[in-house]
Amino acid sequence: MAIASSSLQPLHQVLCLKYTCLSPNSRNFQPRLGFSSLRFPSTIRACSAVALEPDLGTEKRQTLEDDPFACPICYEPLIRKGPPGFNLSAIYRSGFKCKKCNKTYSSKGNYLDLTITAAMKEYNEVKPARTELFRSPLVSFLYERGWRQNFNRSGFPGPDEEFKMAQEYFKPAEGGLLVDVSCGSGLFSRKFAKSGTYSKVVALDFSENMLRQCYDFIKQDITILNTNLALVRADVSRLPFSSGSVDAVHAGAALHCWPSPSNAIAEICRILRSGGVFVGTTFLRYSAVTSWIERPLRERILQNYNYFTEEEIEDLCTSCGLTNYKSKVQQSFIMFSAEKPSDV
Ligand SMILES: C[S@@+](CC[C@H](N)C(=O)[O-])C[C@H]1O[C@@H](n2cnc3c(N)ncnc32)[C@H](O)[C@@H]1O
Repeated sequence: MAIASSSLQPLHQVLCLKYTCLSPNSRNFQPRLGFSSLRFPSTIRACSAVALEPDLGTEKRQTLEDDPFACPICYEPLIRKGPPGFNLSAIYRSGFKCKKCNKTYSSKGNYLDLTITAAMKEYNEVKPARTELFRSPLVSFLYERGWRQNFNRSGFPGPDEEFKMAQEYFKPAEGGLLVDVSCGSGLFSRKFAKSGTYSKVVALDFSENMLRQCYDFIKQDITILNTNLALVRADVSRLPFSSGSVDAVHAGAALHCWPSPSNAIAEICRILRSGGVFVGTTFLRYSAVTSWIERPLRERILQNYNYFTEEEIEDLCTSCGLTNYKSKVQQSFIMFSAEKPSDV
């Protein structure tokens, strides 16, 4: 744990170099929102989920086009108050509010927390082990330092090749909003952002430590730090986007980690626009080339993992309303893609 935290540098420390009003050493550290208007001075605190004051109604608002985020409770678009632009620094210095639920959301350290539990003080939700595992600082630290590389032994072609394959599937979504759901430490989010193919990239995960690790990698590369990338904490079963507002959803090596793959894919289908594309990768329980002798063995060994067959994955996608299912398989690795039908 200590190794992981020692490599972390919260966004506010980097921002302080740029914005002298932000002094984390000050006991009254309150990063100011960037509006020049003094009529409604507001502040956000770096580590509080509910931090907006006062009403956002008369302040300058970002348009929906600028801001893709919606309330995870009612799915109404969030109103944003803060400096314009879609990048880490502008989003960090912004506050978000749902007019309907009267709930506010803001950044925690270096990511925007858009989970339903963001502002809860007493209630603590514990997810299944396959989700909780990745919330650990150690696993988050090790993920790109050996853990992910191990996937190659099961047939994963590796990040560069997987990125290239995904980009092929995402061609109809070029220039749009891409959400990298369950981004982990941002292996692919960074590539999507750096490619310049998308107008906005959202790196989204449930694990606070994965997002911290993701930020740690981003800040090592100034070309990514200044791109149109946002870091968001959210649950894949409750995505903070309006229905039909997203062009592309990527979910690398994630399906088997989700508490409810069916809820997650239904939710992905909800946020995709007509013609929007979903691309995912995961481990197969077995594939068409696995011998009949080996299958019962794999069933038994993998019974505690949420590994599916290709037929199950296709069924999940089509039953949730996606069409044009395609896939590529190599040993236990599968990359699949499906689209939101154009007439929905
Ligand atoms: C194996 S990692 C995949 C990381 C990266 N996408 C990749 O291709 O290597 C799986 C990720 O799923 C995330 N995850 C698990 N449950 C989730 C949930 N309910 N909502 C969002 N993300 C979740 C974990 O936090 C973890 O970062």
